[in-house]
Amino acid sequence: MNEQFAKDVIEGLSKQQKELSSKYFYDDSGSRIFQEIMEMPEYYLTDSEFEILSLQAKQIIDAVNFNQPFNIIELGAGDGFKTFKLLEYLVNNNVDFHYVPIDISQGAMDDLTKKLEAKLPKLSIHPRVGDYFKILSKENVQTNIPSLLLFLGSNIGNYHEKEAVNLLQLFNDNMKKGDALLLGVDVKKNPIIVHNAYFDKHGITKRFNLNLLLRINREFDGDFKIDDFDFYCHYNPISGDLRSYIVSLRNQKVLLKKLNISFDFAYDELIWTELSKKYSHDEIENLAEHSGFKVEKHFLDCKHYFTDTLLVK
Ligand code: AVI
Repeated sequence: MNEQFAKDVIEGLSKQQKELSSKYFYDDSGSRIFQEIMEMPEYYLTDSEFEILSLQAKQIIDAVNFNQPFNIIELGAGDGFKTFKLLEYLVNNNVDFHYVPIDISQGAMDDLTKKLEAKLPKLSIHPRVGDYFKILSKENVQTNIPSLLLFLGSNIGNYHEKEAVNLLQLFNDNMKKGDALLLGVDVKKNPIIVHNAYFDKHGITKRFNLNLLLRINREFDGDFKIDDFDFYCHYNPISGDLRSYIVSLRNQKVLLKKLNISFDFAYDELIWTELSKKYSHDEIENLAEHSGFKVEKHFLDCKHYFTDTLLVK
């Protein structure tokens, strides 16, 4: 049994305002649903970042300006779809570099390696499975070639601001002088566009959230009845917080047999599942400053929906 997951479920569902962490969305079926989200036209984040890395790879690499062999270390590489364009540019231009994707999923790393070996046979790839920081301190701090770290896809948006600063500070602690970090951030924009990306008419984001209840059923022998729950999300354009919730459609008791515990849900009660935070440019500067970085340059897509921001120590 996944002890940490069990602990977090019990703790989260015992709170006055119930919550479940979005970090548990990504079991096999959750990861597949996330792929579907990334393919929706309304989920502009993926297309925007793909455009940035496709059209501005040269500008990004020129701005990093290593002038010697280097590493590209990707934190949470997943399927590596967006990064492919950057790697392709470097390989096609005979740039001397090593690609080190890091992910907690062995399956994701195996798939990515196979795909890249087929598509870019000249690529030097060294996948690593496990905890970012353990791997970073070993792979990065103990070598003397410079590294460009990638933390893409607005993954930073799933952390509360304080946690985001702590995470960036930890990245910073594991970087050598001269290393750089390319950070993918979703930028504040017309709230209707943000709303449509998450409260999608296809119901895919709803399925993504409710899959968490199915996962709890599978792993803890629970009896959540999925039709008795719904999905809601709300964007606050001032704070930039997009918050997602599961809604209980009736008074109900749910038993998690393996954990020997049950929880009551009231009619219309909410379970908060996810924060997907959007930032203004000033707020990105702030985030950087509080974690010991300097903003070198923002690389934006043509609609200015998303930025890959280059941070230096
Ligand atoms: C992974 N993460 C950046 C996504 C986001 O936009 O917060 C997860 C997601 N949740 C709903 N749609 C996509």
